[in-house]
Amino acid sequence: MEKFVINGGFPLKGTVNISGAKNAAVAIIPAVLLCDETCIIENLPEISDVSSSLNALKSLGAEIKAIDKNTVQIDPRSVNSFVVSKEIAEGMRASSYFLGALLGRNNKARVSPPGGCNFGVRPIDQHIKGFEALGAKVTIENGMVDARAFKLKGCSVYLDVVSVGATINIMLAATKAEGLTIIENAAREPHIVDLANFLNSMGANIMGAGTGVIKIRGVSNLNGANYSIIPDQIEAGTYMVAAAATMGDVLINNVTPKHLESIIAKLIEVGAEITENDESVRVKMTSKPKKCNIKTMPHPGFPTDMQPQFATLLTVADGTSIVTEGVWDNRFRYVEQLVLMGADIQLDGKSAVVTGVNKLNGAPVKSVDLRAGAAMIIAGLMANGQTTVEDIEHIDRGYERFAEKLTALGADIKRIDDHNEFGIQKNA
Ligand code: EPU
Repeated sequence: MEKFVINGGFPLKGTVNISGAKNAAVAIIPAVLLCDETCIIENLPEISDVSSSLNALKSLGAEIKAIDKNTVQIDPRSVNSFVVSKEIAEGMRASSYFLGALLGRNNKARVSPPGGCNFGVRPIDQHIKGFEALGAKVTIENGMVDARAFKLKGCSVYLDVVSVGATINIMLAATKAEGLTIIENAAREPHIVDLANFLNSMGANIMGAGTGVIKIRGVSNLNGANYSIIPDQIEAGTYMVAAAATMGDVLINNVTPKHLESIIAKLIEVGAEITENDESVRVKMTSKPKKCNIKTMPHPGFPTDMQPQFATLLTVADGTSIVTEGVWDNRFRYVEQLVLMGADIQLDGKSAVVTGVNKLNGAPVKSVDLRAGAAMIIAGLMANGQTTVEDIEHIDRGYERFAEKLTALGADIKRIDDHNEFGIQKNA
């Protein structure tokens, strides 16, 4: 199995370029199913969640041609199936987007429920509520979610919880439905706006994305488009926190600073110096971080996908910080791993009480999910001595060339395949 080996203690310095947004890419790829022509999608991150989504599209019959490592051309006209099997959906949280996209394309979809990160129950009741309001009948048979409609008709849906996935899925299903669909209490994440921009660039009529009320007036056809995905807000945030945590000075390039406001605000609170430019942000840290409380919330609140990384920075803060998880039921499984490195963290329900220690110590740890894995890497970069991070397939789901980008910033991190009897190091 591959793992990362990190020798900590080097401040990150230099410039890093941020890749395209994972959570936009995994929505935009299935959205191509709604189109009647060829699409070219640029700035796709080279990560396993994107390959899984492209594989799912291919398994349905779409023709996919790689133009370069971050650009694909997709022709959905050859799609001849409405089923995404368990084998294809396994390990992929965003498989549910194929439900909305196939339903919108064909009025029928059968998709295995999502896999992906494990941090508590991951229900899709709000997605189903939306499909049913649009006129579909949704059943679960032999472990597959089956949605069918004679005709999808515009409707009003009020989401009981602010759900990114349900908002996206209802947008996908409603884009070609007859009449007006209104999603109230919609999620407002940047990737929702990106999906709406992509669909609108093909001729859809979606208004209000990025606000709590999204209005979708159904259209009958979508044209092909050339579309470039937005920068990944969470990848950017991860490097920003890594820069602060290693007392570094990093220019994070190719970002949309507006998407990073909550992360910037919290980094300023812990004492980082931040300079915002049009498409980059510089993070410089010259003193021990100050304590700070965070509470995760849907956008524009502090993102849950930055919670493990930020809590890791707070393990060496001056004082005690409270980190409260407001989105997921169980997103503190990584705490046990940080404690192995000498962190002082007490869990109290949905909060973690983090008391700063002087320094973390390197240790063998596991990546229990994608962002937890990123947190372990930050911890390894901060720590005295050597840290090994196992189960890194989670990290590969969401970070393009993580070790390579960190190495360019001065980190000592290597990707090792310890099944190789000679211990020969693979590419970073
Ligand atoms: N929820 C329901 N019912 C539903 C859907 C969600 O109760 O039908 C609840 C969930 O249990 C959770 C909350 O609503 O408590 C928010 O879930 P949401 O649907 O917003 O999450 P998601 O769409 O499954 C996306 C991201 C996650 C990110 C969350 C929250 C993608 C592919 N995934 O998940 O990203 O944590 O939104 O922002 O967009 C990651 O990138 O590491 C990641 C896990």
